[in-house]
Amino acid sequence: TLTTHIGSFEFANPIMNASGVHCLSAQDLDELAASAAGSFITKSGTLEARVGNPAPRYATLPYGSINSMGLPNKGLDYYIQYAEKFQAAHPDQPFFLSVAGMAPSDYVTMAKQIQASSFTGLTEFNLSCPNVPGKPQVAYDVEATEQILTELFKVFNKPAGIKLPPYFDLAQFDAMAAVLNRFPITYINSINSLGNGLMIDPATDTTLVRPKGGFGGIGGAYAKPIALANVRAFRERLRPEISIVGTGGVRNGRDVYELILCGASMVQVATTLQEEGLGVFPRLLAELQVAMAENGHTSLTDFQGQLHTI
Ligand code: DHB
Repeated sequence: TLTTHIGSFEFANPIMNASGVHCLSAQDLDELAASAAGSFITKSGTLEARVGNPAPRYATLPYGSINSMGLPNKGLDYYIQYAEKFQAAHPDQPFFLSVAGMAPSDYVTMAKQIQASSFTGLTEFNLSCPNVPGKPQVAYDVEATEQILTELFKVFNKPAGIKLPPYFDLAQFDAMAAVLNRFPITYINSINSLGNGLMIDPATDTTLVRPKGGFGGIGGAYAKPIALANVRAFRERLRPEISIVGTGGVRNGRDVYELILCGASMVQVATTLQEEGLGVFPRLLAELQVAMAENGHTSLTDFQGQLHTI
């Protein structure tokens, strides 16, 4: 069985989209919901709808992708309405609503709106969008994160997750985990894209994306070892009641297996979904089952978090 849990929610399998891919519109979300994925998440909604950054803002790379989308989305009201309607029609199909603030106070405003709605699923607070000009990633600032979570949980008591950027120093894991452990969060999602990479077209000596002078978030295979490390490092530091969604660098079923081995309960796919389409889900599920069988495992809990070290 591929059954998995986040908080009190059960999912038939652990593979789903990462926010940003195939989840902008109601049609996109309906297609995800009808796919083989175990769940789905919306594009991060902001208080006001956004068109995002000028194109080209996504490019395929040899081992992944670069993007500088700039949070194009239909606005929080649109996604709350979708969530309320979907939940009423499919009460046994839990899913995730992602939100992103353009200012710290936005998180409280949005939390109040979601609290007041009929949505009872998982809300993911994206503290790590790398692509909005002039807006640093909140979660690289431990104090700002603590302040936002303090205000947010004064008004919000529904299941909540936090989307985190990649960290690269063990002291950063210590500091962030210490803060996260003080709040009633249901899960973290590690990692968002590797912020502000740069790729160049050798034929023209020109950046591949237009916004921000060519800087953009890197995803795909480039992210895999960093995602594994972030999931592992947080699993070693967070309260066991806090689940982990592992995101970054999934191209095959063995990649899914390894994120679970590091402690993930759910695994998200962005670049490979963007490149391959919804058929990626049945493929990854079949490959995950092969990887499990090769190691003699019949359920995710047989190996979840059971990484061996030497
Ligand atoms: C956006 C891009 C990302 O890579 C991300 O992690 C979050 C948001 C965006 O620009 O919309």
